[in-house]
Amino acid sequence: MENVPVDLAELGRVAGRLARALRPGELVLLYGPLGAGKTTFVREVARSLGVRDTVRSPSFTIANVYAGAECRINHLDLYRLEEIADEDVVALEEYVEPAAVTLVEWPESGLERLGRPQWTVLLEHDSVRTRRLTLRAEGAEQAARWRAAAEPDA
Ligand SMILES: Nc1ncnc2c1ncn2[C@@H]1O[C@H](COP(=O)(O)OP(=O)(O)OP(=O)(O)O)[C@@H](O)[C@H]1O
Ligand SMILES: [Mg+2]
Repeated sequence: MENVPVDLAELGRVAGRLARALRPGELVLLYGPLGAGKTTFVREVARSLGVRDTVRSPSFTIANVYAGAECRINHLDLYRLEEIADEDVVALEEYVEPAAVTLVEWPESGLERLGRPQWTVLLEHDSVRTRRLTLRAEGAEQAARWRAAAEPDA
């Protein structure tokens, strides 16, 4: 989907659909400016995957790890990557692992180490209550799963 206006409820539905289409081992990169809704989107994906913990951006580390119903969810935010200790930075690629779904806010400074994403999400400001959302499946397999994950009545 490309540049679609979404309110909070619609953003939640898109996140739920991505949660159904996602598989462990996959990487989701989330782009967009401050306050565009990246964390909100991750929270909805995590909730759909059965996470009951509070989902908010990691503040003094790169990553929060949540327990989902069927797999781990790694939530990374690289906004302050430069300020984070070297040993953590070295561990960046280790978050992308077969047993977990990994979602990354502000991925720009980690692109080489993270590797290629299976999914890309772009959020941009629109009105106070809406955002423009672009979601791209980066492979044929993901695109097929995305289609299959549509709501029955949508
Ligand atoms: N349609 C919408 N979609 C997403 N968020 C919305 C929408 N409308 C209003 N909001 C609000 O905008 C804010 C988005 O904040 P959020 O922390 O998710 O952004 P972010 O992209 O993660 O920012 P940062 O770059 O600081 O990490 C939230 O307070 C959310 O409730
Ligand atoms: Mg955020």
